[in-house]
Amino acid sequence: MEGINLGLSSSSPPVGAAPMAGISDFPFRLLARNFGADFTFTEMVSAQGLVRDNPNTFELLRGIRQNREPVAVQIFGSEPRAMAAAAEIILSSILPAALDINMGCPVPKVVKSGAGAALMCAPEVAENIVSRVSDVLESHDPRPLLSVKMRSGWNDSSTNAPDFAARMEEAGAGLLSVHARTRSMFYSGQADWELIEKVVRRVGVPVLGSGDVCTGPDARDMLSQTGCAGVMVGRAAIGNPWIFCRIRTYLDRGEDPGDPLPGERLWLAKEHVKMEAAFRGERRGVVLMRRQLHKYVRGLPGASELRDQLNRFESAREVELLLAEYARRQGFHQEGPNFDFARVHDPRQGCRRFSTN
Ligand SMILES: Cc1cc2nc3c(=O)[nH]c(=O)nc-3n(C[C@H](O)[C@H](O)[C@H](O)COP(=O)(O)O)c2cc1C
Repeated sequence: MEGINLGLSSSSPPVGAAPMAGISDFPFRLLARNFGADFTFTEMVSAQGLVRDNPNTFELLRGIRQNREPVAVQIFGSEPRAMAAAAEIILSSILPAALDINMGCPVPKVVKSGAGAALMCAPEVAENIVSRVSDVLESHDPRPLLSVKMRSGWNDSSTNAPDFAARMEEAGAGLLSVHARTRSMFYSGQADWELIEKVVRRVGVPVLGSGDVCTGPDARDMLSQTGCAGVMVGRAAIGNPWIFCRIRTYLDRGEDPGDPLPGERLWLAKEHVKMEAAFRGERRGVVLMRRQLHKYVRGLPGASELRDQLNRFESAREVELLLAEYARRQGFHQEGPNFDFARVHDPRQGCRRFSTN
């Protein structure tokens, strides 16, 4: 049986949503896809949490449809056996397009346990993880792609991504993603795309580039400067899901459809909150959405006051009423773009109306 891939076999390089803990949940991925993301990644999922049957960990897998969408499920951990067991657990219930191993998370709690970016300092353990997970994937039809997401290296004096990537390929990875910052940089400073290029030259498998892709021209430049097979958008997609439409349209047609109108942004913000509330439960969903809501309203008149008010709400209805009242006061026509949230359409159809007038 043939599996779906992450858009890598298409004639134009895929543009997708990077994994982001606390952001890339089911509603976010659905929005990203509806706006043209060729692939999405889940938030990182703890291998130990799956093995220990932690319900909160399983929640991160909710919404993924069996071999139906180009989503990569990302797991993290440091123990090869637990990682293989986690892979088996995931594949016994869902069959994602790819299973990704996190080797880039910089968070102290994660690296102290030997997981995330710490694996770049322990290539033998990383190899062992990849080869054991690869064995698990082997017995599944269709076989999901095995991918590894890494950073440039640990710090300035250890930018070992090219060698490390070659070892991961040798161990069985069929796709590599490189966030071109070191662990010491966390998320600050400029991503060094040269490292992506070095990885691309070093390995035979496709490489996805990550770091500082915020616009269509950024995506074009990363593709041309590094030779990567596709790009990921991280922070620029937070509260800004139409970014995928803008980048896709720019790459395919050299045009930028621009930002939605303020009323459309508010409408989307409201729909996104409702989806989160339905998905996570009212209070959790709304509280978790605050960061994204701040981005949705960024640059609008009185945004800072609006953000303060949004921070006080714990129900989607309150958010909805506030945004409606704000739109009325500003004279913004709150209206949805012409797409159907429930239907994940072919992203290569491009996006619908996004008026720039
Ligand atoms: C809030 C947040 C959460 C993230 N969570 C993850 C994660 O769970 N797994 C991962 O591999 N990378 C994670 N990342 C890194 C992103 O996938 C991406 O590589 C990084 O943000 C660089 O891309 P950007 O400059 O486009 O944001 C996260 C980044 C952010 C900002």
